[in-house]
Amino acid sequence: MNLAGQTALVTGGAVRIGRAICEALAGAGLNVVVHYRRSATEAVALCAELERRGVQAWAVPADLSSEAACTELIRRATAAAGRLDILINNAAVFHKDSLRATTEAGLLAEFWPNLFAPLLLMRALAAQGAGGKIVNLLDRRITGHDVECVPYVLAKKALAELTQLAARELAPRFTVNGVAPGAVLPPPGQGAAYLHDFAGTVPLQKQVTPAAVAAAVLALLQNDAITGQILFVDGGQHLL
Ligand SMILES: NC(=O)c1ccc[n+]([C@@H]2O[C@H](COP(=O)([O-])OP(=O)(O)OC[C@H]3O[C@@H](n4cnc5c(N)ncnc54)[C@H](OP(=O)(O)O)[C@@H]3O)[C@@H](O)[C@H]2O)c1
Repeated sequence: MNLAGQTALVTGGAVRIGRAICEALAGAGLNVVVHYRRSATEAVALCAELERRGVQAWAVPADLSSEAACTELIRRATAAAGRLDILINNAAVFHKDSLRATTEAGLLAEFWPNLFAPLLLMRALAAQGAGGKIVNLLDRRITGHDVECVPYVLAKKALAELTQLAARELAPRFTVNGVAPGAVLPPPGQGAAYLHDFAGTVPLQKQVTPAAVAAAVLALLQNDAITGQILFVDGGQHLL
């Protein structure tokens, strides 16, 4: 399906994988609302870059830690662009926390951007009455039991389930799919050595790039017959 002229909101779109997704969508002719929380400079610069490439782009801030902020982000994105056809739930946090170290505050800090915000953003978009497409960024860890990051894994597993629940409930107006990357970039603050453990140990024996994740997002958006699917972009790591 040709998506040119449609508008996508990419949460956490200013940097890292989110930025690659914004660039891929713009490359397909989509206008992009780049959501950011702290990366204002990067978001504004990215919008300028996307406009140089011939699409429209808007930078919209929000801390996705409350229902009001999620509802307001959908409202502001729609007001800025005039329409909103696509939502990419990319914003996330990742912390290492075992079951025993987990606190209520830590759980909520992980659950807000990784689970609650995607749910509330999907709900707010669906409430607008039109149809569209949604892609949720998951993690290949949804198939395993990584005890080093219990709140994160719980949130992403729940988001995977929510992706399929939403695919049923929002059909036929929306397609709702997930993309589950393997190790792509080290968490903010960590060096490339973080990924060293994974390089060469996955079946395809190469590192997954942000562009490969973005290409998977675009492929799901371009297909009108796919909903409720989770596409692993992990070099086969989920098979191990
Ligand atoms: N990196 C990997 O190797 C990897 C592996 C598996 C899955 N994933 C998934 O792929 C997606 C992108 O990964 P990534 O590593 O590029 O993500 P990231 O850098 O960890 O986070 C993306 C952006 O989320 C935004 N964000 C975080 N908390 C927020 C909050 N409370 N409110 C609003 N925005 C918030 C931040 O935006 P600002 O910078 O504007 O503050 C951040 O830059 C995520 O869903 C992640 O879980 C990534």
